[in-house]
Amino acid sequence: MQKKTLSDISLQGKRILMRVDFNVPLDQDKNITDDKRIIEALPSIRKVLEAGGRLILMSHLGRPKGKVNPEYSLTPAAKRLSELLDTPVTMARECIGNEVMQQVLALQDGEVLMLENLRFHPQEEANDPDFARELASLGEIYVNDAFGTAHRAHASTEGITHYVQTAVAGFLIEKELRYLGNALDNAVRPFVAILGGSKISGKIDVLEQLFNKVDTVLVGGAMVFTFFKAQGLSVGNSLVENEKLDLALTLIDQAKAKGVRLILPTDVVVAGEISAETPSHVEPVTAITDGMIGLDIGPDTIDTYTKEILGAKTVLWNGPMGVFEIDQFARGTFAVARALADTTATGAVTIIGGGDSAAAIAKAGLASEVTHVSTGGGASLEFLEGKELPGIAALNDQA
Ligand code: 3PG
Repeated sequence: MQKKTLSDISLQGKRILMRVDFNVPLDQDKNITDDKRIIEALPSIRKVLEAGGRLILMSHLGRPKGKVNPEYSLTPAAKRLSELLDTPVTMARECIGNEVMQQVLALQDGEVLMLENLRFHPQEEANDPDFARELASLGEIYVNDAFGTAHRAHASTEGITHYVQTAVAGFLIEKELRYLGNALDNAVRPFVAILGGSKISGKIDVLEQLFNKVDTVLVGGAMVFTFFKAQGLSVGNSLVENEKLDLALTLIDQAKAKGVRLILPTDVVVAGEISAETPSHVEPVTAITDGMIGLDIGPDTIDTYTKEILGAKTVLWNGPMGVFEIDQFARGTFAVARALADTTATGAVTIIGGGDSAAAIAKAGLASEVTHVSTGGGASLEFLEGKELPGIAALNDQA
C-alpha cells in the first residue's frame, strides 16, 4: 500500500471525518436490501471508535441531483450502522452549516455522527472548493474508505484533501486495492477472466488491459452478439453495437497477438422477448433464428466455461452472462457463480469485480464462498482498466 492508512495515525480524542460509500439499495419502504457496503466499512469504523476517536461519517446515496430529497436520506444507513455497532449513531439534518458544526463539537470520544446526503448539494459532484473546505473544517483527520466512490473526483473524495493536513485510506480501500491489485499484478496462473455485460463499448479498456495480464478471457452477456455479427453470423434481434463491429474484430486480433485465448459462447438461450413468460430455447450461435434475442449462454457454453474456471488458479469476474434478473435467463450467470465457489474451495483466488456480478453472486447465495467481492461498481471497473482513481490518488503517500 503506497498510501498512508488508518493504522499509521493516532486517533484518540481526534475528530475523524470519514468518507464512506453507504450508497446502498433500498426497497419502497426504505429498508436496505443489501448492507454489504456498510458491513465492509465496519473495520475502519470500529478502529476509530475503539481508539477513542470522535467519528463523523459522510456519504452520498443515489443521485438526488443536488436537491434535498427525503427519498435519498441516509437515515436508514445510520439506523443499520447503529444496529451493527450496537451503539447510537446520531443522524444530522445536514452535512454542512452551523447546526452540524455544533453537533460535531459536542461529540465525545467513541461517539458517531452521520451527516446527511452530500449530494443534496450540487457542490459535491461539482467538486466545489468552498464546499470542500467547509466539509474539511468538520474534522482534524480525513479518512477515505469509500472505495465505491473513489473513481469520482468530488468535493468529499478529492477536493477535501486540499484542505486537510492528514488524508489517509481506510481499511476497505486497503483491502480492495490488495485483492484487485494482486489479481492483476501477482496472479497465480492459469489466470482466467470472465467478462460479461451488454456492451463492448463499456468494456474495451478493461479487455485491452486484461489481454496484458490473463491467459484466457471467457465472454458472455449481450456483448457476444457484436463479436458474432462482426464474424458474419446471424444474431436475430439480439443487442448489437453496429458501430463497434470493426472494434470487435480488432479485439479478437489483439487477443491472438498477445497469446490470450478469447473464448466466445457456442450456444445461447434465445427468446422472442425479454420477459419471464415468453418461451425460450437453446440454439447454437451459428444458427440463431431470425427474430430471436440471445439472453443467456447455453448449456454447452456453461460446460466449457465451468471447466476453464475449475482449471484456473486465479479468476476475475466482471459482468453477468445473461439477463439474470429473470430466472429463465439466469442459469449461465449462476453456473459461473457456482464454478467460482467450487474453484475457490480447491484453492483458487476468485475476485468479483463488483456491480452486477456482485449482485449476481449475492443472488446465487455464494458471496461468502469466493475470495473477494468488490464493493465498487464503476470504481472496480476503472481500477481494472488501469485508470488512476482520484479519491485514492489524492491521499497522503507513505513516507
Ligand atoms: C456506486 O454505486 O457505484 C457508487 O456509489 C458511485 O455512485 P455514482 O455512480 O452515482 O457516482
